[in-house]
Amino acid sequence: MKGIILAAGKGTRLYPASSSTSKILLPIYDKPAIYYPLSVLINVGIKDIMIITSKNDRASFKKLLGDGSQFGVSFRFAVQKVQRGIADALIIAEKFIKDDSVMLALGDNIFAGAEMQDLLAEAVGSGGATVFCTPVDRPQDFGVAEMDGEGKVVSLEEKPQEPKSNLAVTGLYYYDSNAAAIAKEVQPSKRGELEITDVNRIYMERGQLHAVQMPDSIYWADTGTPDSMLAAAEKIKEFQESGELVGSPEATALRMGLISNKQLLKWIDTVGSTSSAYLTRLRNLARE
Ligand code: DAU
Repeated sequence: MKGIILAAGKGTRLYPASSSTSKILLPIYDKPAIYYPLSVLINVGIKDIMIITSKNDRASFKKLLGDGSQFGVSFRFAVQKVQRGIADALIIAEKFIKDDSVMLALGDNIFAGAEMQDLLAEAVGSGGATVFCTPVDRPQDFGVAEMDGEGKVVSLEEKPQEPKSNLAVTGLYYYDSNAAAIAKEVQPSKRGELEITDVNRIYMERGQLHAVQMPDSIYWADTGTPDSMLAAAEKIKEFQESGELVGSPEATALRMGLISNKQLLKWIDTVGSTSSAYLTRLRNLARE
């Protein structure tokens, strides 16, 4: 299976913080935002990951992430020249996906919680597409799924004025190898974007869309605004004070056996910082 992280957004709602850097490189508590979706993909066991950025931010992402060996995975970088919509990521990645299935993660979405691994493992075995849904207070800000009594999705709408349910579709999507071909069928929406909701609707109409409702124990946040970034940072701090590191690709890679304790310690030594709390936690983990 392949993985894609879409990180080409302009982050206009975060100006001026995002004027000289991608919002996905800004920190959510103690690590850059992209670390969170990256550790989700590593958690699923995905080793080939495409990072889609804007042309300007590409070099900074490469500087942060390298070739992936630090996390026991391999990165390919691609550029989205124009913000044509989330579904465009599948078209950009078409040759990279080839005949594999793919998990697409939005760079600004954060997932945390011990049950995440089981939930993902359950979803990725199936054909078709899988979306992950959760109840929200303002469904009109998201893609919204309506389900019947048996948990089958009966309608999907992008940011509807009158939502048919309070179930938001989160920014993590699993697709079989038809995703790029389906994305190419999609026409631009009224706001001029290739909507990921339209891709999901085509899978739904073919009877190939699975929806997983996330349990309350999983924390999810779309971190597009200063307030949502702050709330997410506080939540991550809370999680980490009472448990393990959350959204750490190095810690996830270590747990998945993609890197050894020795490799991790060696990388921490290369970075050289002894004052970073994040690195100190990683160092302790690698010494266990
Ligand atoms: O967070 C979940 C929601 O994400 C879903 O419920 C919606 O169905 C989905 O459309 C999306 O809505 P957003 O309003 O949050 O999408 P946004 O335009 O903020 O884009 C999400 C991320 O993807 C953001 O980090 C920017 C990046 N992006 C977006 C577009 C349209 C790109 O890199 N390229 C693009 O062309």
